[in-house]
Formats: sequence, C-alpha cells, structure tokens
Amino acid sequence: MGPPELARHLLVVFGATGDLMQRKLLPALHSVAPVGDAPFVVVGVARQPLDEPGFRAQCVASLTSDGSVPTGDAAAWAARHLHYVSVGAGAPEDYQRLSGELERIEREEALPGNRVLYLALPAAAFPPTIEGLGSAGLHRSKGWTRLVVEKPFGRDLASARALNALVHQFFAETQVYRIDHYLGKETVQNLLVFRFANMLFESAWNRDRVDCVEITVAEDLGVEHRAGYYETAGALRDMVQNHLMQLLTLTAMAVPAQYEADQIRNEKVKVLRSLEAIRPEEAVFGQYGPGTVGAAAVPGYREEPGVNPTSTTETYVALRLKINNFRWQGVPFFLRTGKRLPTKTTYIHVHFRSPPVWFFPATSPGEITANSLRIMVQPDEGFELAIEVKKPGHEIALQTQRMHFQYSEVFGPLADAYQTLILDVMRGDQTLFVRADEVEESWRLIAPLLEHPPALRPYPAGAWGPTESTALVTPGGHHWTEG
Ligand code: BG6
Repeated sequence: MGPPELARHLLVVFGATGDLMQRKLLPALHSVAPVGDAPFVVVGVARQPLDEPGFRAQCVASLTSDGSVPTGDAAAWAARHLHYVSVGAGAPEDYQRLSGELERIEREEALPGNRVLYLALPAAAFPPTIEGLGSAGLHRSKGWTRLVVEKPFGRDLASARALNALVHQFFAETQVYRIDHYLGKETVQNLLVFRFANMLFESAWNRDRVDCVEITVAEDLGVEHRAGYYETAGALRDMVQNHLMQLLTLTAMAVPAQYEADQIRNEKVKVLRSLEAIRPEEAVFGQYGPGTVGAAAVPGYREEPGVNPTSTTETYVALRLKINNFRWQGVPFFLRTGKRLPTKTTYIHVHFRSPPVWFFPATSPGEITANSLRIMVQPDEGFELAIEVKKPGHEIALQTQRMHFQYSEVFGPLADAYQTLILDVMRGDQTLFVRADEVEESWRLIAPLLEHPPALRPYPAGAWGPTESTALVTPGGHHWTEG
C-alpha cells in the first residue's frame, strides 16, 4: 500500500519510452507502491506507436535490469498500474485524442480526476507539448492538475522567461514543479536541518567566523553518449545554473519564518538577488583533453563521439562569487564543477577564520589549520569537522583531527532523489522544486558569462581542472580542497 495521505490520481508521463522514465521514474514509482494498490495509475505517453503490452514489456525490462525486482513481480505491477497512449506527431487532434483516453482510463479506474502531467522530455519539446496540453484543455481537470518540468528550464534568461510565460498562460505557479534533482538528495535537504537545528553552526555561519566557502561538484565521467545535448549546453548551463546555484542558495540563505515552500524559496531568491554581477576575471572555463582517470587512458572532449573536433564547449567552470548582504559581505564563495576530474564527489566546504591572535609559544599561526566543516553531499554522505588538538608530549605541538559522521553508518543506503521528488509532487509539496523567479534569477546571474565567455583553458582528463583555477582562489590566501 502507498502512503495513505496520497490522493488517487493519474500520472501522465510524456517521454515515457525515454531514458529518464525508464532509468529513474519507474524505479521511483515502483518504490512508492511495490505491491498491492497504488495511489496512482500511470499513463505513458510518447510518439512511438507502441501497444500497451509492448510498453509494459519495455518497463518490465527496465525495472528488472539490476536484478532488484523479480520479473514476475514487475510484470504484475506493470499490468496493474501502467497504460500507454501514443501521441504521434503531437498535432492538436493528437492531444484531443489523448484527452479522451485519459478520461476513459479515469472512468475505468474510478479515479477522481486528479492529474500529474510529467514532462520527461528533451527541452526543445517543452513548448510544443505545453501548447498541445493547453489547446486540448488538459491544464484543467476535475480535481487538481500538476505540471512537472524537467531541466534544463530555458537556455538563457530570455528563453527561461519565455518558457515561464508560456507555462503561466495555462498553469498557475502553484501547479508547477520544476525539477532540479539535487534538491531531492537527502544531504541537500539536510542542509536546512543541519544549519537551522544546530545553533552551534548557525551562530558561526557568517562573515565574522567564515573565511570562505567552497562548493565542488566533480565528476570523473566524461560526456558519455550525450554529446548532442552537451555540445549545446556546456558545464555552465548543465551544472552551474541549476545544481550549483541550489547548493549555494541553501548554504547561504537566512532562516525562513516557517518551514513552508514559498518562505524557503523567498529566502533562496534573496541570496540570488544579493549576488554581485560576475566579472570576467572571476570565472575560469576549461575543456578536458586526453588523459588518465583512475587507471584508464581516456580521450579528450573533442575526440568523444558526436563532439565537434574544434568544439569550444566548456566541460569545467570555476567561479568566485560575492554575496552582498549583511551575513556574507566580504566572504568569497568559490564554485567549481567539471567532467573528467579525478573522482566523483560533491561537497560544500566551509572554512572558518583563524584565531585573531596567536597565543601558543612554540608554533606560529601558519602552522595551524583553521577549523573547517566539509558537508559531503555525495558519495560518502555525511560531514567532516576539522579541529586542532594538542599532540601528546612535552612540547606544545598542534595536529588537525577530523571528526566524521557518515549517513550510511547510521541509516544505511539513501533513497534516490527521484523517489523523494515524485512523492512530493504527489503530496503537493513544492518545497524541493524551483520557482519561476528563482530560475530566472540564476539565468540572470550567469548571463554575462553566456554573452562573453572567458577564454577556454585546456586540462588533461584526470586533473582538477585547468591551472588557471588556482589563481582564482589564491588572492585571499585560499586554496581549493584537494580531493
Ligand atoms: C545532470 C547533468 O543534471 O546531473 C549531468 O545533466 C550530470 O551532466 C548529472 O552528470 C550529475 O548528477 P549526479 O546526481 O550524478 O551528481
């Protein structure tokens, strides 16, 4: 049985034969109601002229591919919960026919008319699909209707505004759920608890105590099979505008008056509005060349399948940002992300100030490491607090010790972000979804870099980005975390 508070509804997934549905949404839906009744009936929608048994067989193959669900169980689940409708070329009459099919399924399944419309589609398909939905009156139903839109939401400020305007032609903002899957990660949600339930840290979370903040989202993988998309995106659009901005706002925001979706999002937007415009010398763009990751020799970006051999797409971005508000004035925020870096790791590293006066006789301030707190978002989710201790012995000698907390040791494996996000859509909780103004503000922030990208610096695959990224942080005596 699914969680009892969920209202029964139809979940219509556009792009149901695609990667996202097959790899992420199906396992998430299965986890909401693995056996027995479910609060939802899924209607897969795509162009492919599949019949229902064909669609179900495809879904069963996806659900069973890692061996976690037995084939018999998956087949029974699919037969009970999955339907399929082809929308052909997506002409207005196709959406009219879809509307009729949805009503038929709702009647047969005795559903009250609540609907989730999930656009698991490539970005180019968002506008025609939203228009098709609107033209067929599918933005309204007998109960509630919610629209879920995947990333990327626009490719610059103008297109994001145009897409928001189109969405709002048919849907109120309270119906819209823009996905950034980082918000569904447990450790990202935990940022609010960590910060606002622990006075110890919150009272030090400001310019008086913090020297700088580093946010690293590193990937060891290259562009894989996604050159078609990535060539038109690059790391700035693919990672910074969304995932890194979300990590930044949750790290820097003030405490909202209540734990409520709009109050939390208001505080995040305030951070984005307080960010100073990025100057060209505060950004470094890089592109990986051939190199070694782990023990494997890997090709450079320009040699990857589907990539233009003279491509100038950036696979690495590092930024130095300033937040002009009372809490953070003067504290640099260093952000970096890249593909083909030495390892996959995401963390927020808060570096605290050194003691104002040096008091120990035998050592100098240069010999101590200032306190720091590293929040590990993934993998090895948890945190690490670096403190100074006295080495035992007659001399006063200091040593850095790291205190660890690891989620897996206490709670076991964590759920996939999509499980959290799909449940929140079903519940009608918008807290972990990006609001229209939030998405526009983050596009506004990176607009100068989209218009005038900095010079592209090469780095060998397996390095921590181009050497120029070091100079971005050294002026204040800072350095990037190694590893
Ligand atoms: C996606 C990007 O949004 O996030 C990918 O399009 C990237 O390029 C992925 O690899 C990283 O997500 P995660 O959850 O593996 O850190």
